[in-house]
Amino acid sequence: MTHLFLRAFLFLFRVVLAPLTRERSFGNVPQPHAVLYYQQRATKGGLLIAEATGVSDTAQGYKDTPGIWTKKQVEAWKPIVDGVHAKGGIFFCQIWHVGRVSNHAFQPNGQAPISSTDKPIKPATRADGIGLAKVSTPRRLETDEIPLVIDDFRVAARNAIEAGFDGVEIHGAHGYLIDQFLKDQVNDRTDKYGGSLENRCRFALEVVQAVADEIGADKVGIRLSPFASYSEASDSNPEALGLYMAQALNKLGILYCHMVEPRMVNIGEKLETPHSLRPMRDAFKGTFIVAGGYGRDDGDKAIADGYADLVAYGRLFLSNPDLPRRFEMDGPLNKYNRDTFYLSDPVIGYTDYPFLPSDASAFGL
Ligand SMILES: Cc1cc2nc3c(=O)[nH]c(=O)nc-3n(C[C@H](O)[C@H](O)[C@H](O)COP(=O)(O)O)c2cc1C
Repeated sequence: MTHLFLRAFLFLFRVVLAPLTRERSFGNVPQPHAVLYYQQRATKGGLLIAEATGVSDTAQGYKDTPGIWTKKQVEAWKPIVDGVHAKGGIFFCQIWHVGRVSNHAFQPNGQAPISSTDKPIKPATRADGIGLAKVSTPRRLETDEIPLVIDDFRVAARNAIEAGFDGVEIHGAHGYLIDQFLKDQVNDRTDKYGGSLENRCRFALEVVQAVADEIGADKVGIRLSPFASYSEASDSNPEALGLYMAQALNKLGILYCHMVEPRMVNIGEKLETPHSLRPMRDAFKGTFIVAGGYGRDDGDKAIADGYADLVAYGRLFLSNPDLPRRFEMDGPLNKYNRDTFYLSDPVIGYTDYPFLPSDASAFGL
């Protein structure tokens, strides 16, 4: 798909499925039940972003999250991607490395998780707001190991294309590995990947460059959350960080930048904040996606005001498989049930949220 063609598609369809970890990919392999889940949320021309998907065997920190580094995983993604395409949807894979948000049990040979730092995080509420994560003290990556991790992202992107995805979203948000390099409250390196803003952004930009070189910049997006502080990843000047990244990404010509609203200091909590993504939106020349606490009306307003090109919806899309139709008809919304977000069950809380009846007049619509 060419850049312009994809742009036109994205322009027409504003409601995006935000990436949502669902912990139903047993043994890190996507499962057949994901075919129905994603297909339910697919519409002609609508963009879906798949849940965070590990780039290597060191990338995991949560149970049963999918990967895309083995042949078996690539094959398992294929019917899921085909299902979305059969309904005319556009499907990007979010590629991910958790870095220090992990523990020995998730790591090959029980080794320490890798990070930009060797500072551990306190066991705390997980980024998703549910449960307590056990974390181990990370091992700081040596400078000469960093290209190997960048290569894992490159190969994962290649694999995503082989699986049929239309592109990848690099997960640079929410306190995971890339964010652990970006944020000055985590990154305490003294090599070329630490210290100045330029140095802290180097890892993220090298990942983007490697992925863009591999699959084409027109198939690459990145998610960033400069204002968030999940897993102790905060920055003393988030606006400067977001702006620097927006400008640097322009030089790489990628398809989109997906930013999480400053009000989402924690997933699930919408806080009042004087900050806005407007400066980053104005600086970035590609498609700009925003996410975080949006409903139908403020999403429409964000588009009408030119604040964003697209709005990604997480929890509302999770619980309303036909969210674009409900928005179109101003229909009632199903409430999401937090208790089933991460249940292993292949149906409950996953594919059993009801659709509006095809005869929506039952709702007086
Ligand atoms: C169950 C759940 C899983 C999530 N998993 C991911 C993920 O895999 N990758 C990611 O970047 N964000 C993830 N998020 C954050 C969402 O993409 C989104 O930014 C957040 O829910 C705020 O948007 P909302 O208010 O529309 O739900 C997750 C959120 C929830 C509730």
